[in-house]
Amino acid sequence: MEIVSPTVIIFLGCIAFLLLLQWKNLRGPPCIGGWIPWIGAGFEFGKAPLEFIEKARIKYGPIFTVFAVGTRMTFVTEEEGIDVFLNSKRVNFELAVQNLMYRVASVPKNIYLTLHEKLYIMMKGKMRTFNLYQFHEQLTEELHEQLKNLGTHGTMDLNHFVRHLLYPATMNTLFKKDFFPTNKSKIMEFCQHFETYDKGFERGSQMPECLLRNWSKSKKWLLALFEENIPDIKSYTAGKDNSMTLMQGVLDIIKMETNEQKSPNYGLLLLWASLSNVVPVAVWTLAFVLSHPDIHKTVMEDISSVFGSPGKDKIKVSEDDLKKLLLIKWCVLEAIRLRAPGVITRKVVKPVKILNYTVPSGDLLMLSPFWLHRNPKYFPEPESFKPERWKKANLEKHAFLDSFLAFGSGKYQCPGRWFALLEIQICVILTLYKYDCTLLDSLPKQSFLHLVGVQQPEGQCRIEYKQRK
Ligand code: HEM
Repeated sequence: MEIVSPTVIIFLGCIAFLLLLQWKNLRGPPCIGGWIPWIGAGFEFGKAPLEFIEKARIKYGPIFTVFAVGTRMTFVTEEEGIDVFLNSKRVNFELAVQNLMYRVASVPKNIYLTLHEKLYIMMKGKMRTFNLYQFHEQLTEELHEQLKNLGTHGTMDLNHFVRHLLYPATMNTLFKKDFFPTNKSKIMEFCQHFETYDKGFERGSQMPECLLRNWSKSKKWLLALFEENIPDIKSYTAGKDNSMTLMQGVLDIIKMETNEQKSPNYGLLLLWASLSNVVPVAVWTLAFVLSHPDIHKTVMEDISSVFGSPGKDKIKVSEDDLKKLLLIKWCVLEAIRLRAPGVITRKVVKPVKILNYTVPSGDLLMLSPFWLHRNPKYFPEPESFKPERWKKANLEKHAFLDSFLAFGSGKYQCPGRWFALLEIQICVILTLYKYDCTLLDSLPKQSFLHLVGVQQPEGQCRIEYKQRK
């Protein structure tokens, strides 16, 4: 028998060592699939996605991949992965969402990529903090008008109550005055279609439209609404200073870049982006405040100290007033923290190292603000509604608390965040100034079904309101 020389053994040993190193470097994170090809973990994941993510983190550690319906989603849950998600040039926002844009609003992928940056810069500019004064007056006027329609007292589902206030206020401010229908049957038709569209948004972003008949019908109805109204939106002359509405700014860029005259798709996207999160957050804020007697009492004292005794017809809410009503802003932010979006996403465009793994290009990198906000390392007593934790945030300098990612972060952080906060604050202030409010049911449960956007309330929660004397 021939004896292998020590040189050969050392040589083979070195090769094995190098291969091991390479394997370690190229090794992907633990992957949760399933035995059905392509579907993978799709059924389990689809049943309760948020719970699935947390169970997987406990079982597999801070980074893991879920393979579902032909897509690899790699979740990052701790510092190193979060830092890559937010700052690496190897991950990309636009490529992660272009399919979704096509499915939910029929925006062609090439058009989306051509227009995205320009539209984003315009929206961010129009809604940045020092431009917010432009919205104060109209938002307040619109909300007063809707509060008047609610009469002196009543009982309503809290969701309906908030929709009644915020649908018209948002649409008439961001698209054009009187864009929201005023005729009762038209309002009902709009609400029914928007709510069907909003409810099915997540499914619509994943499945072919032909499998979602009702959703598709409502999507088409909303697109037709924009098609019909775009000429009026274009020719509308806004405020005294002739400034354009946000939607007019969008249409202007589309026309300049593509020569397209009608773009109902972007109208639908803006409609969804501006309503789908704001409405549930306003519901949660009112629900949290009304179900915490101490906080409710202090909020009412603050409102009285700024606006005096109730009864005046139409109070104006200035920037200075908002500064004095800091607790209300903290309550809004705390409601957003607790009901934050299920995930935000980026596409990996070049393999990227996180911890001891390499995440391959093509993966969707996923981060869950919802679970991040429940990590006691970042937010002590994470499940408690504690508005005072926001005392530490430098809100004067427009900074949130570290690790608060409900509006995303980085280059494409939500451009509507300051507008959203303003709108919800004014809505809560005017409601509580005008009415004594009580919840007739306990705080609603949150549905664990939402990955896109904030968590919706589940089940009934009625509000009783009586004009204050
Ligand atoms: C509480 C309310 C809101 C929440 C929680 C929220 C959250 C978010 C999040 C998480 C993103 C993705 C950011 C990322 O991936 O880094 C986003 C994007 C966006 N949001 Fe908001 N948002 C809210 C209100 C609004 C409002 C009121 C508007 C419009 C007036 C708006 C317009 C948009 C737009 C246009 C984008 C896409 C940005 C892009 O394409 O780059 N959002 N929002």
